[in-house]
Amino acid sequence: MKRKIVSVLMCATMTAALFAGCGGGGDTQASGDAAKTDDTAKTDDAASDDAADDAAADDAAGDDAAADNAGGSDGAITIGFAQVGHESDWRTASTKSCQDVFSAENGYDLQFVDCDNDSAAQIEAVRGFIQQAVDYIIIDPIVSTGWDTVLTECEDAGIPVIIIDRTIDDSDKYVSWVGSNFKTEGLAAGEWLKAYAENKGISEINALVIEGSTGASATIGRTEGFKEIADANGWTIVDSQSGDFTEAGGQEVMESYIKSYEGKFNVVICQNDNEAFGAMTAMKNAGIEYGVGKDVILVSFDACTAGLEKVMSGDINADFECNPLAAPDVEKVIKQLQAGETPEKEVYMTEHWYVNEDVLSSITVNGEEQALTVVTQEIIDAQY
Ligand code: AHR
Repeated sequence: MKRKIVSVLMCATMTAALFAGCGGGGDTQASGDAAKTDDTAKTDDAASDDAADDAAADDAAGDDAAADNAGGSDGAITIGFAQVGHESDWRTASTKSCQDVFSAENGYDLQFVDCDNDSAAQIEAVRGFIQQAVDYIIIDPIVSTGWDTVLTECEDAGIPVIIIDRTIDDSDKYVSWVGSNFKTEGLAAGEWLKAYAENKGISEINALVIEGSTGASATIGRTEGFKEIADANGWTIVDSQSGDFTEAGGQEVMESYIKSYEGKFNVVICQNDNEAFGAMTAMKNAGIEYGVGKDVILVSFDACTAGLEKVMSGDINADFECNPLAAPDVEKVIKQLQAGETPEKEVYMTEHWYVNEDVLSSITVNGEEQALTVVTQEIIDAQY
């Protein structure tokens, strides 16, 4: 917006350098050619006027150019979004959700930065948004700590911050957080495994865990939740290592687990679908049978379309949803702020627990009973 134009011009070069340096992504969703065409038309019209009008037109053209640098069109709400990266199907769905909701058609100007799982780059992206004087900043924090300094800088600049998906554990200098309870997801996986093992007469659990990215609240919560149930039931967690929420990471960790522990595990817990796909490849290559009715029970998180397909085919026994479609709730927060209202500090997403077999109807987590949903083609077709 106008008051921000001077700082935008001053920072344009710095910001361009920042985006170029932000990991493999650095993608920005800027206003692009259409806005430039508009500016040219305005400048041409002004050239036919008298000198005074020309000067005014020059100013206007200058303002329009500045608005272009900010990616802003008049009246649009400018938003900087520092996204984790592009490591998983879930992340792709999360990015799309934000880009769909915060579109130019909906009155927004979204500056999107893919931070490629690089925490330092993510903090610099936020600093770039401060320099651009955007109206709001959205952060999906790669790691849960190290945020207080930069969030204080946002506060000092008067820019409201909304946290999406993962949590920040060492600062509360943000307006709202919209996301999932990761510990509940881990507890749910544990409670389901307990009930399923009882149902199937499996008395011993030796589990391998493929964790997500180190330091991410999604990893911390799922690990803690599952471990709590494992400890309470005397299960053995044979090993627990990070697969970085990627398919390649899941395959690599599973290959190394197979070398070390072949024949010594009967459960594999992957902290997202992409890791599960990698683990499946590693087990298939080693001739290990997994999934419904096989030697190894395979559990996953996220429940994106491809994950649910693997549940329906019986390759994954159970998949605990992490809902990536938070952007509509983030938009509600922004609308409340625009109206001068105070949004909720925490907004939880609705999630489902998906299974292949119709042998258990529900599990109880944190004292609350929740249904288990048997995956059907209709459910897959409606999923993100
Ligand atoms: O923070 C959410 C997690 O991050 C998802 O489970 C995973 O797929 C993503 O990479």
